Amino acid sequence: MSENVSSLLYIVSGVLFIMALRGLSHPTTSRQGNLYGMVGMGLAIVTTLVGHPPAGFGAWILVLLGLGIGGGAGAVIAKRVSMTAMPQLVAAFHSLVGLAAVFVAAGALYAPQAFGIIENGHYHKQSLFEMGLGVAIGAITFTGSVIAFAKLDGRMSGKPIMLPQRHLINALLAAGLVLLLALFIGTESKALFWLIIIASLVLGGLIIIPIGGADMPVVVSMLNSYSGWAAAGIGFTLGNLALIITGSLVGSSGAILSYIMCHAMNRSFISVILGGFGGDTAAAGPGQVETRPVKQGSADDAAYIMKNAERVIIVPGYGMAVAQAQHSLREMADMLKKEGVDVKYAIHPVAGRMPGHMNVLLAEANVPYDEVFELEDINGEFPQADVAFVIGANDVTNPAAKTDKASPIYGMPILDVERAKTVLFIKRGMGSGYAGVENEVFFRDNTMMLFGDAKKVVDQILKAF
Ligand code: TAP
Repeated sequence: MSENVSSLLYIVSGVLFIMALRGLSHPTTSRQGNLYGMVGMGLAIVTTLVGHPPAGFGAWILVLLGLGIGGGAGAVIAKRVSMTAMPQLVAAFHSLVGLAAVFVAAGALYAPQAFGIIENGHYHKQSLFEMGLGVAIGAITFTGSVIAFAKLDGRMSGKPIMLPQRHLINALLAAGLVLLLALFIGTESKALFWLIIIASLVLGGLIIIPIGGADMPVVVSMLNSYSGWAAAGIGFTLGNLALIITGSLVGSSGAILSYIMCHAMNRSFISVILGGFGGDTAAAGPGQVETRPVKQGSADDAAYIMKNAERVIIVPGYGMAVAQAQHSLREMADMLKKEGVDVKYAIHPVAGRMPGHMNVLLAEANVPYDEVFELEDINGEFPQADVAFVIGANDVTNPAAKTDKASPIYGMPILDVERAKTVLFIKRGMGSGYAGVENEVFFRDNTMMLFGDAKKVVDQILKAF
């Protein structure tokens, strides 16, 4: 296959990736978007294999083994993973992209002829720069993603861990990295290449360790962006157009998503990266139990209140995802609508554990899209609502975000559920949410707690209807 044809096919796959991103931006078109992405990736792989066939039988076997083992493992993991474990899976996958960038750069350094990056015994300066930068970003992405995975998966505490002098240490390491990179380009020393990797691995860990669990969504999308730039950098070394296009798409979309999430949580991107969310006050930690009395109700009470309401706003959160209560919830909403109640869903941008988590679950349960509203579009409606039905959400309704400057969620916009006439709160107990902070709404006069698993409680309400 000529270079022109493979370039053209790579551009076609790039267009398919852009169409995939566009499709993924809405639940109605997301399956189609996924399909475009798969076709684009298939085309890119075939083009690479045909355009630059592996040299010899052994190399073919290695490539096919890689495709089989990687693709097989990916398919099995994707099939098995629960929706609630998706963020840590994404973090784990990013770590592999980072590692791949490191391996490819090392491969290029040790077999420069294969990549055409050496002339008269000297590497091209530009290639040294691409390899050094790509490997640094790749290694930072690797350890950063491993720590993010451990935090999201509960293998490490989600609390911010404030290391002493962390800003100074990180700044020194970053400056050291720039120096190492310059020396590597100047001397072509392989030892310096490995030093860059070691320093970057340490820096990746140190950057992510102090970042608290509540900021993890931003971190995961930022690491996603890093992994994209690492791939693009390596794409230049390999002279592979598809890798450059894909890496840039991942890099820029991850950066845009990080920005949007920071905006939604009212955070400055820099303060998140510097581990500044909520200052140096560590959160209390999930599972903290409160002893003050609360008003407790039954499924019968909830059914009675909602049947007699005119407007009900449903606020889903992480607990709904854990309980898989979305189908029962939709049935409940259908019943209320039959009774003439106006039902809407309010979605907080960081409800659940990944961007769009609630939208995906509600779409899966066939909740009509025109009943689902974003925070800024519905927040003004709570004072007119008879009932705010909070199902497994907590942090996203916590007014401490507006009032308590010391709170780790201070500044994050919240859904003003307490302004509804009655707040019905479904959760299993008095445990706090992800950020580990107490929610004053539980103790308000207009709040009724419905304790239990979200699905079971909604099923009981359905029976009570
Ligand atoms: P959370 O604040 O985490 O609260 C969820 C609540 O659900 C918990 O208080 C828990 O209380 C309850 N719960 C758990 N399992 C349940 C079950 N089976 N049945 C009923 N209730 C159950 O959730 P949220 O309000 O959705 O806020 C999301 C938080 O996660 C934010 O702090 C956000 O920053 C963070 N975060 C978001 C993302 C993204 S991108 N969405 C990613 C990572 C982290 P009990 O234990 O008492 O039942």
